[in-house]
Amino acid sequence: MSLTAQDHRILLNDGNNIPIIGLGTYSAPRITAKDACYHAVKVAIDVGYRHFDGALVYGNEDEVGRAVREKIDDGTVRRDDIFYCGKLWNTYHPPEMVRGTLEKSLKLLKFDYMDLYIIELPLAFKPGDVIYPRDESGNFLYAPTDLCATWEVECHPYFPQPKLKEFCDSHGIVIVGYSPLGTCRDSLWVNTKIPSLLDDPVLNSVAARHQKTSAQVALRFLAQRNVVAIPKSFNPERIKQNFEIFDFSLTSEEMKQINALNRNERYVELLMWKDHPEYPFNEEY
Ligand code: A2P
Repeated sequence: MSLTAQDHRILLNDGNNIPIIGLGTYSAPRITAKDACYHAVKVAIDVGYRHFDGALVYGNEDEVGRAVREKIDDGTVRRDDIFYCGKLWNTYHPPEMVRGTLEKSLKLLKFDYMDLYIIELPLAFKPGDVIYPRDESGNFLYAPTDLCATWEVECHPYFPQPKLKEFCDSHGIVIVGYSPLGTCRDSLWVNTKIPSLLDDPVLNSVAARHQKTSAQVALRFLAQRNVVAIPKSFNPERIKQNFEIFDFSLTSEEMKQINALNRNERYVELLMWKDHPEYPFNEEY
């Protein structure tokens, strides 16, 4: 497999393709400056990113859409160069709500279509526009879920998911790994008992050998396994750095060493929803 900054798309079994690296656009709304996402997406397109991972619930699809449209208008890209993935939030699972919710996102983005639309989590909440519905005692209000639906999968060197990868490979399914850098350390929803992935000594020693950073090694590790990664950054230097993974490769010995870091533990455990009848992470995947 030869991956380059210009050509790093993976063919999907329906004939479409997906760039192996995308920019994650979730950033806690309570602490993120207005337009930070807009600027990040524009920088990313200039750097060479062509894949953006967003969602209605991130509250910034209007910024993603504005940035992409401006880069189309100035001639940098065409709409069909860009791969956009949006997501259906937990309160819009009833089939009759799906189309309207997708259209709401398209209106914010000012796009005619999305390249991929996925169910954000297989955990249905009480339908409606209240994103985190709760009863008077503060308990989350759930609703039944159809578990046949698909959803994205956390994937990084501490959680490389060998069994799931083997299953997907045997069925021609490509994995998109979220939190490929071990995510942020927001204790509201992240398991901060797991040490920071990017401080890992093995990743850092491999990185030093290649004059790269631990983040670049973590991303290259996923790319060499044919796993799509969507690192989030709104920092121009780090957006650039996370794309500079096509000018080096890890040896099979290094791949083995990094594979051995598997802790089989998730950063994104979503323990606050562990009592949901369809909580997905009790099963081994
Ligand atoms: P920032 O947006 O300030 O760059 P993940 O993609 O696994 O969810 O990780 C995202 C987190 O990692 C964010 O907090 C992001 O912060 C940070 N981050 C992104 N790229 C890098 C990098 N190259 N080195 C260190 N931290 C990074």
